[in-house]
Amino acid sequence: MTQDELKQAVAQAAADYVAANAPEGSIIGVGTGSTANFFIDALAPLKARYKGAVASSEATRKRLEGHGIPVFDLNDVAEIPVYVDGADEIDAGLNMIKGGGGALTREKIVAAVARTFVCICDASKLVDVMGTFPLPVEVIPMARAHVARELAKLGGTPLLREGFVTDNGNLILDVRGLSIIDPKGLEARINQITGVVTNGLFAVRPADVLLLGTAEGVRTIA
Ligand code: A5P
Repeated sequence: MTQDELKQAVAQAAADYVAANAPEGSIIGVGTGSTANFFIDALAPLKARYKGAVASSEATRKRLEGHGIPVFDLNDVAEIPVYVDGADEIDAGLNMIKGGGGALTREKIVAAVARTFVCICDASKLVDVMGTFPLPVEVIPMARAHVARELAKLGGTPLLREGFVTDNGNLILDVRGLSIIDPKGLEARINQITGVVTNGLFAVRPADVLLLGTAEGVRTIA
């Protein structure tokens, strides 16, 4: 199976999970990235079942609307039964690195509201210790150099994502060289640096369910 076929399989499994677990008429949280895009496509045939979706990025909003799925402002939504999103790395505790697509802040906000976070990944994303994938950190532009110096003190090598501006008008520093043995502690520590909007560690609020695409089929880990 190709990586895209694995992504498609987990996306379909996620659409089935949502159909079984989210009440009719509810609003679904939808993540960002290539795997989330397959999920949007799998959700579209069932769109009459749901009131609509909350999008974790402008790209996702456009794709949802392209399928005729109504997109709601999160401020107008009190409950999201299920949020489905991909990850760049995930460990056995369902802690994740996210933000390869730069949507980490909105993803973290939607995840904070959602009752259940379903992560959809192909098997290459499951790791013992996170940190091989550079950790994205969203920063207020005027704080870029200060935050980079502070991240270097933590042992990482931050690199500005060239030519990239987030949906919130901010910059991304991708931090290489971290071996993340305490994801929750590091997430909190980085978020304390003045000028950081948030970082791509999802450990304080990890996933609740992982649908993992493998050559043998989709594994459910919870
Ligand atoms: C977007 O900012 C990310 O958090 C994505 O969820 C993550 O990068 C996974 O993307 P792919 O599904 O494209 O690998």
